[in-house]
Amino acid sequence: MDLDREEQAILDGEFGETRRKMMELLVGLGTVFGAERLVPITSAQVSGASYKTIGRWGLEWLEGLDARAVVPTVLNPIGMDRHRWREMGIPEEFAGKQEEVVAAYERLGIRLECTCTPYYLTNTSFGEHLAWAESSAVSYANSVIGARTNREGGPGALAAAIIGKTPYYGLHIFKNRQPQIGFSLDEPTALQGAADYGALGHLTGGMAGNRIPIFFGIRPNRDHLKALGAAMAATGAVALYHVDGITPEARLPTLRREVDETIEIRIAEVREVFSAVEVDAIAVGCPHLSPAELEHLAGLLGGKSVKKPFFVFAAAGVIAENRAAVNRIEASGARVYADTCVVVSPALDRFDAIMVNSGKALAYVPTMCGAVARIGSLEECVAVATA
Ligand code: F3S
Repeated sequence: MDLDREEQAILDGEFGETRRKMMELLVGLGTVFGAERLVPITSAQVSGASYKTIGRWGLEWLEGLDARAVVPTVLNPIGMDRHRWREMGIPEEFAGKQEEVVAAYERLGIRLECTCTPYYLTNTSFGEHLAWAESSAVSYANSVIGARTNREGGPGALAAAIIGKTPYYGLHIFKNRQPQIGFSLDEPTALQGAADYGALGHLTGGMAGNRIPIFFGIRPNRDHLKALGAAMAATGAVALYHVDGITPEARLPTLRREVDETIEIRIAEVREVFSAVEVDAIAVGCPHLSPAELEHLAGLLGGKSVKKPFFVFAAAGVIAENRAAVNRIEASGARVYADTCVVVSPALDRFDAIMVNSGKALAYVPTMCGAVARIGSLEECVAVATA
């Protein structure tokens, strides 16, 4: 890789051991993936934040680092709401370890917004280069915003945050962002809400694998796109997709629309993703809810009481700015938690079957929480919770 003088000096250890190691990691990644140089980034999002996923070894590695992020950087969800972990039923010992992880990241200059929806809190724009790690955030940044990031691992994103640059390869380069597989629907107007798009993503992610899909004929809004991309990133390795005429790059004349293979999905196949399994808890907010989704949920729960545990997850900053909707949701007995989520918190491990409105959660709950997962619309989640 071609390094400028400052980059070479960092690699030579002139700016400390941690920065040397971080530069070494970036150069190693760049060499493996054929990058010729580094590119400056405007923000980073670091995964590997829950003690449930990184454990003791991850914590020790973090505590051995001594440098600070040089670009705005947020964290992925951790294992608990930082202020309400007791009421979530998080064991004291886990909470202590989680706080140590958070403190280690704080020492590294990372903003303690623990969310997979950093795009609600930062002004991320079309064409910006990023180093984001969480797969749904990566998909949203690339596909819905038109920013450019590879699907970073936790260490790669942290290294990029500390150096302020990332290797220039893969999805940073426009010619690598062309669609490779098409999807169309027999009844595109039958798709209604985020759960339908999540189910569509659950179905098509595996078919796409790590190819870049383009959808034809569907008309999703931004919350639907979030659900679609998150699910495809979970059942496949989709880090970028296009929706013809909707997503920003699919409105550019330079994006190719011809693909070798277009698969027609029948709406009946999407419906098969839904089931009617009995559940003992409900969890929504995977990815973290948007302000509009919080408002919608508040309207659905208004004047009702939930009879099953009902977990709602959103970014702390979004909760703070939408306090009235959050209060209306909590008046029903549902709980709105920040910093964490259904998959990375141990709080939901005690349930046998969990209802979600997310194709991504549907994919991860069985392995990460050891529970059966059922997907339903937000309306169905409320109906099941209040019946
Ligand atoms: Fe976000 Fe957790 Fe889902 S990180 S996308 S809420 S699994």
